[in-house]
Amino acid sequence: MLFFSYILLSKLFSFFFHQFHYHYQLKEKHHRLPPGSLGWPYIGETLKLYTQSPSSFFSNKQKRYGSVFKTHILGCPSVMISSPEAAKKVLVSQAHLFKPTYPPSKEQLLGPEAIFFHQGPYHASLKKLIQSSFLPSAIKGSIPEIEQIVLKRLPTWENNAITHTLQEMKKYAFEVAMILAFGHTKDVEVENIKILYQILEKGYNSMPLNFPGMPFHKAMKARKLLGENLRRLIQRRREYKEQGGGLLGEFIKAAQEADNNHKLIISESQMVDNIIGVIFAAHDTTASVMTWLLKYLHDNFDVLQAVTIEQEGIRHKRVQDNRGLTWEDTRQMSLTIRVIQETLRNASILSFTFREAVQDVEFDGYVIPKGWKVLPLFRSIHHCADFFPDPEKFDPSRFEVLPRPNTFMPFGNGIHSCPGSELAKLEMIILLHHIITTYRWNVIGDGEGVQYVPFPVPKGGLPIKVQRRQKN
Ligand code: HEM
Repeated sequence: MLFFSYILLSKLFSFFFHQFHYHYQLKEKHHRLPPGSLGWPYIGETLKLYTQSPSSFFSNKQKRYGSVFKTHILGCPSVMISSPEAAKKVLVSQAHLFKPTYPPSKEQLLGPEAIFFHQGPYHASLKKLIQSSFLPSAIKGSIPEIEQIVLKRLPTWENNAITHTLQEMKKYAFEVAMILAFGHTKDVEVENIKILYQILEKGYNSMPLNFPGMPFHKAMKARKLLGENLRRLIQRRREYKEQGGGLLGEFIKAAQEADNNHKLIISESQMVDNIIGVIFAAHDTTASVMTWLLKYLHDNFDVLQAVTIEQEGIRHKRVQDNRGLTWEDTRQMSLTIRVIQETLRNASILSFTFREAVQDVEFDGYVIPKGWKVLPLFRSIHHCADFFPDPEKFDPSRFEVLPRPNTFMPFGNGIHSCPGSELAKLEMIILLHHIITTYRWNVIGDGEGVQYVPFPVPKGGLPIKVQRRQKN
């Protein structure tokens, strides 16, 4: 008993000593911390962030303190960054001083070996592998399959009472992600993977309470089964000496080549965590942007008309040659591309990202203490009138000239930037080509308001009514 009391006392002592020491050190540095407020103890300014909406929270702070300011959110002292130059330092030139950071529950669900959580040589070799699977040269060949998904899905929207845009976009983006992850989706395991993934996703966006009956608990169970299913698929493909296509095929090939050279580059558990990670990164993001695309085109009739003329030109050639869309067609859509760019800017579905200082960092005359979170605010940069005049206006013509360097980062910047940007744009282009040339849609309700699920999307997921287009 005495022994346990002793242990307890020494633990308490070391906790208080550590806290005292930390605050003493912080005080020392205090005059060099960025301006701003840390709010209430522990909860900091989290409530303010959520009650004001992230956009107004950031812009109020920025007006008051400038483009680098401190705050305290989600239990962490943080520095927010809203100038392109400072964001570039964090993400590119001094990226080694700022490691990616996620809540432990997210790491548990996706898998600790997923690319997002790493820096250094492991990250670099994984990134090379993943990037090579999503280069234009690698995804070109998937156009007919992606087009088939669109052609199958669109008629099911027609004349329905209501189409829930976000849900439909999620189904589309998920099917595409499955093809790119596995090459083909006929394996028995892939069917199970689809079902288990949906359970995992529900838990990802819920409170991380690991008790029976809670969505997070169900998600953790689904994650375990997902891992087992994926392992079986990998082993079968290896056994039959058939790598298969998609990213998984690239992983298996890399491991085989490494085996032949007696070094293992990618293990089975690394394959599993990264397949799940890529499916996760690929589908909600793309689905949210495609939902905004339909909203902006609906609200901006002139833009819709102009894009229709561009897409009709491509359709006309396609019909004449009796063929589907080709990669070359997708390179002839300059206005459509500008509409996608303006949607990415205006919607800024990734409002910011998280990094953590790996040591005390001297930054623009301030000190960012080791362990503090650092958040480059993509949305604030994308909505800054100095770089994008009249920033709330949906105006694709602003992309007729190149944006200033580091002011347009919908896919991030630096070593962790998105390897799926070309795939995401291709999915949008294929969808737009078919929906614009064949259909028209009306938004149900006033179409106003934004909902965070977790990315910002039009309220209610944009319910629409779709009809066949009357051609003149
Ligand atoms: C419109 C859709 C998408 C948007 C807006 C988007 C945005 C981003 C951003 C901003 C980052 C950087 C995050 C950071 O720096 O912390 C990122 C990373 C990533 N994205 Fe995407 N993404 C999209 C679609 C995709 C797709 C289709 C894939 C499929 C391959 C994908 C895979 C990834 C991966 C694996 C990373 C992590 C890269 C790393 O840590 O090195 N994303 N994405």
